[in-house]
Amino acid sequence: MIRLPMVIIDADETSRSNVTKLIEEVNFIELIGDFENMLTGYDVIMQARPPLVFFDLTENVDLALDTIEKISSVHKNIVIFAASENVDADLVIQAMRAGAREFLTKPVVKEDLHRALKKARNMLKQEQESAEGKIYSVFSNKGGIGKTSIATNLALQLTELTGERVCLIDLNLQMGDIATFLDINPSFDIAYVITHLSRLDESFLHSSLEKYKDKDLFILADPPDIEQAEEISADDISSLLNFLKTMFGYIIIDTSSGFDIKTLTCLDVSDYIFLVLMVNLPSIRNCQKCLSLFKRLEYDEDKIKLIVNRYMEDDEITVEDVEEALNHSIFWKIPNNYFALMSSINKGIPISELDPGSDISRNFIRLAEKLSGVASSHFEDIEEETGILPKLDIDSILEKLKDLNLPFINKFIKQQ
Ligand SMILES: Nc1ncnc2c1ncn2[C@@H]1O[C@H](COP(=O)(O)OP(=O)(O)OP(=O)(O)O)[C@@H](O)[C@H]1O
Ligand SMILES: [Mg+2]
Repeated sequence: MIRLPMVIIDADETSRSNVTKLIEEVNFIELIGDFENMLTGYDVIMQARPPLVFFDLTENVDLALDTIEKISSVHKNIVIFAASENVDADLVIQAMRAGAREFLTKPVVKEDLHRALKKARNMLKQEQESAEGKIYSVFSNKGGIGKTSIATNLALQLTELTGERVCLIDLNLQMGDIATFLDINPSFDIAYVITHLSRLDESFLHSSLEKYKDKDLFILADPPDIEQAEEISADDISSLLNFLKTMFGYIIIDTSSGFDIKTLTCLDVSDYIFLVLMVNLPSIRNCQKCLSLFKRLEYDEDKIKLIVNRYMEDDEITVEDVEEALNHSIFWKIPNNYFALMSSINKGIPISELDPGSDISRNFIRLAEKLSGVASSHFEDIEEETGILPKLDIDSILEKLKDLNLPFINKFIKQQ
C-alpha cells in the first residue's frame, strides 16, 4: 500500500503527541516529522512536499495563517488541516481562505481526525487522476492508412494549442517512421529508455527524449535494430507509459498494424484508441474485426474513436453507411490531400508547419481543439490575413473610385 507522507506543526507538546498517536493508527499515513517550531516545519514542508499537513493555529495566528498561505500557493495539491481550540467562524474562514482544506477542533478526537484523513486521501487520489496526462493511441490493423501522419500532426497541434508538454512515442517498434516524418535524428530511443527503467525519473527522461525544435513536444523514437525491439516486453511498455502519464499532458502513440501483445498493452492503458479507417470495403471489414476484438476485450465503447482518413465528400459509400455497417459513430474525418501530405513527408516537415493554411492542417487544429477543449486563435488570424472585407458604405467606395480618375468609372459615377 502506498502511504501518504504527513507533517505535524504544533507548538503544544501534549497536543502534538496526541495527534501523532492518532495518526500512527492510520495505515495509509507515514508521519515524516512533527515540529514544535513553525518555521522549521515550514522548511521541511517546502523541501519534502508532503501531501498532508496538520497545522496548529492556537499560537501566532497571523504568522500561522501567512505560512499556510505560502505553502498552499506553492504546493497546489497539498491538503492542510488547520486546528485550534478557538472555533470562531472568522478564524475558520481565514484559515480556509489561506488554503486549509479542513478545520479541526482541539483537543483533536480520533473520529474527527480519522474521518478527515480518509476524506483527504480520496481527494488526493481524485486530484492525482485528473492531473495525469491522457494517452491517445493511433491504431489500425491495416498498414499505410495514415497512422503516423495523424499521430505526428495531432501531437504537434496539441502542443501548440494547449501549451502542455506532449510526448510522441513510436511504438511501431520494427518499422517506425516518426523520426523520418519529423526529420530528426534522436540520440536515444525507446529501447535505451527501457533498459534503464530502474533509473526512470524526470531528469533521466528529459535527457533521453528528443525535443522537437523549440516546442514542448518530446519524441521517443523506435529502436534502430529489430533485435532491440524484440527485447522490449509488454510490462516494460506498461511501466513506461504509466510513468510518462505523470510527466506529460498528452502522450500520443503511433502503433504497429498488428495485435501483438505489446500493442495490446498500449491499447489497454490508452484513454482513447483512434481507430483509423478509409471509406472502402476492405478497410471497413478490417475495422469491423478490430471493433469485435475490442468488444471481447471489454473496452468501453467511448474509448474507441473512429477516424475516417482520406475522406472525400463525393465518396460512393457515405459516412452514414459506414456508421451503420460498424454500428459505431464516426468521431472525426480527415480530408484527402495526397499531394500536401506527400510533400510534407518527403521534406520531413509536418503539414501543420509546411502548409498551415491547407484544409488538412486546419483539420488537425480542429481535432486538437475537440480533444483538448481549447479554442485556437488560428482561424481568427487566417480570416484577418485573407481579409474578410471590411464593411464599406457605397459612398466611400465611389470616392475611392473617383480618385482613380478613369473615364468609364467617371461616367458611371455621374450616372449615379
Ligand atoms: N489524409 C490523407 N490524404 C492523403 N494522403 C494521405 C492521408 N493520410 C495519409 N496519407 C498518405 O498515406 C500514406 C501512408 O501514411 P502513413 O505513413 O501516415 O500511414 P501508416 O498507417 O503510418 O503506415 P504504416 O502502416 O506503414 O506505418 C502516405 O503516403 C501519406 O501521404
Ligand atoms: Mg506508420
